[in-house]
Amino acid sequence: MDDLSELKTRWLHKIDAAADETALEAVRVVALGKKGEVSLKMRELGKMTPEERQVAGPVLNALKKELNDAIIVRRKGLADAALAARLATEWVDVSLPGRPRRAGTIHPVSRVTEEVTVIFADMGFAVAEGPQIETDWYNFDALNIAPEHPARQEHDTFYMKVPGGDDHAPSVLRTHTSPVQVRHLEGQGVPCRIIAPGRVYRADYDQTHTPMFHQVEGLAIGKDVSMANLKWTLEEFCRAFFEADGIGLRFRASHFPFTEPSAEVDIRCSWKSGQLRIGEGDDWLEILGSGMVHPKVLAVAGVDPDAWQGFAFGMGIDRLAMLKYGIPDLRAFFESDLRWLRHYGFSALNGPSQHAGGTG
Ligand code: PHE
Repeated sequence: MDDLSELKTRWLHKIDAAADETALEAVRVVALGKKGEVSLKMRELGKMTPEERQVAGPVLNALKKELNDAIIVRRKGLADAALAARLATEWVDVSLPGRPRRAGTIHPVSRVTEEVTVIFADMGFAVAEGPQIETDWYNFDALNIAPEHPARQEHDTFYMKVPGGDDHAPSVLRTHTSPVQVRHLEGQGVPCRIIAPGRVYRADYDQTHTPMFHQVEGLAIGKDVSMANLKWTLEEFCRAFFEADGIGLRFRASHFPFTEPSAEVDIRCSWKSGQLRIGEGDDWLEILGSGMVHPKVLAVAGVDPDAWQGFAFGMGIDRLAMLKYGIPDLRAFFESDLRWLRHYGFSALNGPSQHAGGTG
């Protein structure tokens, strides 16, 4: 049995010397695996006499168990050491400040749309919507703008392509949000109090015009909604939006085919050394069109003009943003220049409710 004690010393040494779990597994296979040295010894038991076997059997079994136990102990030791090594190298200092990350900003158009919505919501106006690709009937005819009416030319309309052989009038990219008046009255009826913010399109391009821009339409219909209500609503809106109580507004007689009477509204302002100031001064700046909804428009939308009346207005959202936040060039609004967006954009964490609507 001397060779067994040599064998045991040799394998215990190898187990001890295994540097990691893979090396240890290799040692186990060569020692205790099916064709391992110890297993081969076990096989020799078969050739022994029963007496010899009675002595050698328990010794071999004890040896096998001892090596197995030694492997288990070593394996656990190696695993613990590996874990300790990882913990030593992979630690994180949770007290370190976070890495600064640049957050996106809210576009001035989105911001102003929210501000306008909040202010009008305070006055009981819900938000309505209509399609941007509109039939020329809703965009013009229903609004009392006949085919030969000069307003059709003034609007620089984008017409959709009509497939050959189709003699329908082409659809248009809506030139204003006013078609939502008719769509809303048809769908929801009266009384109503809504605003309809959205994109509109006209073929025009300079410092204060882009082919796509934004308007917000307003519509209030009731039994006795009057021009006085229109005036109060717009004054109240401007006070809240421009955050100035003594804001000066001027209602100037105008003409729109879909309102009668019609008024354009100017806001008092001043230009001091190229700097525009809203609410004070001797200049006036046009900010919106408005009027009492024309009886023909009500009738077309299925509303009895002898029983119902009300006002409508339409203002340029981009224009409002330029005025309130001193942004000089409208074209830059839609160029997606990151430097511009960072400069004029708003933090998403700073909502409009803290800002506007205070007096609404
Ligand atoms: N739709 C008109 C425009 O785009 C504005 C307007 C709306 C005027 C509602 C009167 C009433 O110029």
